[in-house]
Amino acid sequence: MSLRTSLPKMVTDTIPGPKSAELLKVRKDNVTDAVGMLAPVFVDKAEGAMVQDVDGNRFLDFVAGIGVLNIGHSHPEVVEAVKAQCDKYFAPNINVFNYEQYPRLAEKLNEIIPIEGEKKSILVNTGAEADENAVKLARRFTGRSEIICFAGAFHGRSYMTMAMTSKCRPYKTGFGPLPSGVNRFPFPYCYRCPYGLEKESCGMHCAKMFEDSFFLEYVAPDQVAAIVLEPILGEGGFVVPPDAFLKEMRRICDKYGILLIADEIQSGYARTGKMFACEHWSVRPDIIVSAKSVAGGIPVACVTAKKEIMESVNPGELGGTYCGNALATASALKVLEIMERDNFCEKANHIGSIAIKRFYELKEKYSLIGDVRGKGAMLAIELVKDRATKEPAKEETKAIIAECMKNGLVVLGAGVRDNCIRFLMPLVVTDEQLYAGLDILDRAIATVVNGK
Ligand SMILES: Cc1ncc(COP(=O)(O)O)c(C=O)c1O
Repeated sequence: MSLRTSLPKMVTDTIPGPKSAELLKVRKDNVTDAVGMLAPVFVDKAEGAMVQDVDGNRFLDFVAGIGVLNIGHSHPEVVEAVKAQCDKYFAPNINVFNYEQYPRLAEKLNEIIPIEGEKKSILVNTGAEADENAVKLARRFTGRSEIICFAGAFHGRSYMTMAMTSKCRPYKTGFGPLPSGVNRFPFPYCYRCPYGLEKESCGMHCAKMFEDSFFLEYVAPDQVAAIVLEPILGEGGFVVPPDAFLKEMRRICDKYGILLIADEIQSGYARTGKMFACEHWSVRPDIIVSAKSVAGGIPVACVTAKKEIMESVNPGELGGTYCGNALATASALKVLEIMERDNFCEKANHIGSIAIKRFYELKEKYSLIGDVRGKGAMLAIELVKDRATKEPAKEETKAIIAECMKNGLVVLGAGVRDNCIRFLMPLVVTDEQLYAGLDILDRAIATVVNGK
């Protein structure tokens, strides 16, 4: 059986096995612990939803590079496309020589990105860099300085995106001063409504607070260049806003001449069952920032904006040495071709329907699960010590993640309170693998709940 269709299997008594342990020492001696580590093992090979470590342990990967691998590890056609590009050239640098893949990828993005009217795109290297460029564009186009972003948001680790990110530790504390011009508004996190209201009866109170309070007491709307939002919070715990929220943000932006920027870095490229999450609410932003899964693991990030916004900047004002290099763009063009051809949105919905049903069953079984949420295959459970108080079950969350790992399932935490588990399985996961992963999760929760 190939690794691609295999199931998790632990062959060493403990994790890490001996070969990984040896390599961990090299890492420990030479790399700062500030660079995070979830699985203390070293990868030998990875295919589809499976990762095999250097000791022969097989893991089911429900993290997928934190949403980078919707296409799965080492998709054969993507590997072929990158290899073919390797034989030709890597990085002529678009600022020096032209090469076809860069404008071809921009052309494809302009075709599929849900922004109204004519568009243009630029390519950069990371999500943070893409968000930075979106802010540059918004400020130049509007001539205004202020940015509004949300509680729970994650936009990156560069200085501007650190300022835009919400969670203090480990992302911001001790790195200040941070850039100014960033204003934060509560995200409609209905499970923990910042106003203590109930979703069904609140009448979108939070959206009303924009005009009733925020624009009067915190920032004047005519100073605001952009509202930057993740249509579904990523790092913040896969929080799905109420249906009216994005539309309301669009209305406010239109009324006050503010640009709406959607950060689809984690939610984009079929993850939620639509190519981009904002399509769930038929909302068309002015700028969309995307990255991660667009190129199946080769770094490239994209900023797509209305043509007039892109044209408000002058030659040389945007760009960078490695931006949109030929390997990444060749990979992205192939990834997008496959996603459309093989209907990856449908795959995400199929996975999501199986997983969410199981999560609700688990919620019935374990009072530790306070909330189940998500769209398509962007799913999370939120763990609480007590459903009435909603006290975050941070230690239990950590223990369940560790227990899953011990049994060959890799899952990642999320949420500003560190009490969510997010699920970002590659969209090529087989049904058999999916059920196996959900069984491991079920047993891990039981082990932690029963204190075994
Ligand atoms: C929504 C969102 N925005 C921005 C980023 C930053 O991307 P990068 O790590 O590539 O800088 C991330 C990364 O997880 C993200 O999830």
